[in-house]
Amino acid sequence: RELNIDVVSIFPDYMAPLTLSLVGKAIESGIIGVGVHDLRDWTHDRHRTVDDTPYGGGAGMVMKPEPWGEALDEIASARTTLVIPTPSGIPFTQSIAHELGSAEHLVFACGRYEGIDARVAAEASTRMTVRELSIGDFVLNGGEVAALVMIEAIVRLLPGVIGNPESLEEESYAAGTDGLLEYPVYTKPPSWRGHEVPEVLFSGHHAKIAQWRRERSLEVTRERRPDLLK
Ligand code: ADE
Repeated sequence: RELNIDVVSIFPDYMAPLTLSLVGKAIESGIIGVGVHDLRDWTHDRHRTVDDTPYGGGAGMVMKPEPWGEALDEIASARTTLVIPTPSGIPFTQSIAHELGSAEHLVFACGRYEGIDARVAAEASTRMTVRELSIGDFVLNGGEVAALVMIEAIVRLLPGVIGNPESLEEESYAAGTDGLLEYPVYTKPPSWRGHEVPEVLFSGHHAKIAQWRRERSLEVTRERRPDLLK
């Protein structure tokens, strides 16, 4: 097995999509191993309590440290990279997806409510690599969907997961495209509802096609993501 991934959540059913599609096939073919765990399995009270009110006051609830500590004691080791999805994390990027794919063991700690008691990350940092990561400037209800996003981005980069490695090199954000957005793509029919495929793509003139695609990439990047050009 290349890469082992464990996910800890109070809603393990959220991770059901991992059995589907590309990630599901990577599991079946043994390229990755995935374990999904219910955080409440590491509680000891009758109500299986995972949250409590915040010190210092304020709205919402905070996840208690003890169940997380015990879960990590059991699941993680010094060779683990612990990923904590949080909107206050460092931005998750394609380059971080590559880095995480070369880890030997990833544990995703999915918090709910207002987050996990900060001592969980602090204590884990004394014994393993910890990365607090955000998938974007918006707030989800918990880390589960963010973990699904990161796992898909990581797993599709692993050798043997995507059939054609060229399709990896050409896509948006991939190294080798100068960090530009992808040019528009077309397939048959040549005319559809009054919209035509650009003539140059029928020309068979590879240098001209490459130049046209480059221009469209620059245009779409300037329009949608000018920050990428600076
Ligand atoms: N949890 C809640 N919102 C999130 C976000 N934007 N990124 C990562 N984890 C989150």
